[in-house]
Formats: sequence, structure tokens, C-alpha cells
Amino acid sequence: MNLSTLAVHIDTEATSPTHLSAPPIYESVGFRFDSVEQLERRARGQSDDWYYGRYGHGNMRLLEDAMKRLDGAEAALACATGMSAIYCAVWAAVNKGDHVVAARDVYGGTFVLFRDELTRLSVEVTFVDPTAAAVEAALTPQTRLIFVETVSNPTARVVDLERVSRLAQQAGARLFVDNTIPTPCLCRPLAFGVTGVIHSGTKYLSGHSDAMSGVFLSNDRDLVQRARQIAIKTGMQVAPFEAWLTLRGIRTLSLRVERQSQNAEALARWLDEQPQVSRVWHPRLASHPEHAVAQRLLPHGCGSLFAFEVKGGVTAAARVIESLKIARFVPHLGDVATLVTHPALSSHINVPDEERQRMGVTDGLIRVSVGIEDIGDLIADFAQALKMV
Ligand SMILES: Cc1ncc(COP(=O)(O)O)c(C=O)c1O
Repeated sequence: MNLSTLAVHIDTEATSPTHLSAPPIYESVGFRFDSVEQLERRARGQSDDWYYGRYGHGNMRLLEDAMKRLDGAEAALACATGMSAIYCAVWAAVNKGDHVVAARDVYGGTFVLFRDELTRLSVEVTFVDPTAAAVEAALTPQTRLIFVETVSNPTARVVDLERVSRLAQQAGARLFVDNTIPTPCLCRPLAFGVTGVIHSGTKYLSGHSDAMSGVFLSNDRDLVQRARQIAIKTGMQVAPFEAWLTLRGIRTLSLRVERQSQNAEALARWLDEQPQVSRVWHPRLASHPEHAVAQRLLPHGCGSLFAFEVKGGVTAAARVIESLKIARFVPHLGDVATLVTHPALSSHINVPDEERQRMGVTDGLIRVSVGIEDIGDLIADFAQALKMV
């Protein structure tokens, strides 16, 4: 054979795959078939052989299998981002004329997806406070889906999944929960009778701000299969390297989340005693609206995310944020490093003032996604920054 042929047809099989202790990265878009009959069976959906990258690949399968075990789910779909997981899950669950009840304080990207795109399909969406009473009051005979976040961002509101799940069952609606912030380490929503769980793998699952992914999980295999068909049609599947990075992050997830939860609670309690701070939104503090719900739902920790308000509005908040030396000013969450941001002038910039105040997203509010640093170093950093106010 000539070199031009040899170079193209290099070996694609590893010599001893059974001895690997870490998963390989399967960067293969096409897959070889041994016969036309085998290809026909795959094309007719009669086998699940690897077919073409958009239909699934080795790293996607490994991530899905890992998440099924972590969340205790029968089926999983791994997507390119958290938003694509939400899109595939929700579009698999609703039809024209349906009514959706969603928590008002869901992630901004979810809010605008529902407000702008779901409603264009003649799906009516009612946004409510993240409480069981508000969800109940919004239910109609057409309600087919309730969508909430276990712990919301930035004020760490906690939804009573047991009560909302019962309401969904009584109403004949599905309940989807974005569980990005607690992760399966702190909460496994399927155990409460929830229909579907979504994670942005971009956050705590991968954990190092270097990968984007998302996962949809359910015990309803048909529902996940429908979501998978949407992912295939729209090309929303996770890429091999991103799936590999997410899976690598998952191997240290429980250690990171445990440390981050402890750090967050300690930092929140310390901030609550500082004279420059007017309010701290952490579910372990008695002042938090869902303090009791969180004790029941999140007994092992509330996760790394919380928010606090400094006296003196935007000017004071900006001084604190810009004076921090260890905590980084990044509008993102879930990293091993502590990240802070200013929600009023970023994620909530288009929310009308009155509504924003009602949500607690005041001008002095700072959101913190606490990392795994030494807690003494973190407290010292926030102490020197608060002195600048
Ligand atoms: C709670 C939550 N869900 C979903 C998303 C969307 O995830 P992604 O950016 O991976 O699409 C985010 C992003 O910040 C989020 O915070």
C-alpha cells in the first residue's frame, strides 16, 4: 500500500483496552459496520450499535451511566449544555395548548427560554414564587408540567419537593427539577417522586470551569427516549471531550461538594455577624424563608451557593467585589475556586426594579459560589474587602 493509503487507514483500536484505569476519549464521529444488514438494522432502530456521533458515542454513554447511578435513575440523556438538557426535556414533555407552572426565580436562561420560546408554541407559562402554595394556586386543568430548581440562584430558595411532587401527581402533571446546585450528593429528587431531573454539568459536576455539559434523568424511559430524539434532531448531544471532562470531575464530586457546603455555611454565618452586611441568604440561617424545608430536604448540606447584601447599595457591593483577592469576580458558579458576582447588574439586569426587589435581588446583593479553599483564608479575604466599604 502507498503511504497516502496507509496514513488514512491507521489502526483505530487500542491494543489493551481492558487494562485501562481511566476512560479513553472516543473522538470518533463515524462508526464502522461489518455488513449492510447491520447498518439497516441500526437505521431501523432495531439495534443500538454506534451509528454516527450525533446519535451517541462512548463518552456520552459513560457519562449517562455514571449519572444514572448517582441520581438513581432508569434513563439518562447527556447534552451539550444545561440549557440543551432543559430544552430536550421540556420539549419532550409539552404539547401545544399545555400549561406550564415555573418558579419565577429559575436561572435567567431558563426563564427567557420559557417566556420567549415556549409561549411561541402556544404553551402558556405561569411564573410563581418557589413555594408549594404558589404552585398550587397556579395549577389549571391544562397544567402538564411544573418546573422548579431545588435550590435557586442567587437567594438559595429551597422548594419543598415532597409537597410539590404530591401536587403534581394530583394534577396529573410532571414535575421537573433543576438540581444543578445541590447535585446528587445533597439531593436526589427522584426519591421524592419527581418525574425528571436536570443538571448543568458545566457547574459542580465538572467542577473546574473547563467543560460544558448537561444531563436529563428520569425513571420514565419513554420520556428520555423522546428527549433523545430531540437531541439527535437538533444536534444537542454532549461532545466526547466535554463528556470526558465532566466524568473526570464527577470522580471528585462528593469531596468537593462536602467541602464547599461546609465552607459556604461557615462563611455565611461569619458574614451574618459583620456590621457592613444587612442580610445573608443561606438556608441554614434561621432568617432564611426555607430554613425548615432545607433542614428536611438537605440534611447533609445546602451546597456552595448563597448571597449576602452589603449596606450602601451598588457602590458598596462593587467595592467589596473589586477588593477581593482570593475570590474571583466571575459570573459563573460551581468551580473549585470561590467566585462572586453582582446579580442586579448581570443576570437580573432586565428584571423590572420592583420585581427584582421582591426577589431579594437588591443593589447591594453579592452572590457567592464557594470553593474548596481553606476557610480561614476565605474569611480573611472577605474581612479585608468589607473594610473597604
Ligand atoms: C441552575 C442552572 N441551571 C442551568 C444553567 C444552564 O447551564 P449551561 O450554562 O450549562 O447551559 C445554569 C447556568 O448558569 C444554572 O445556573
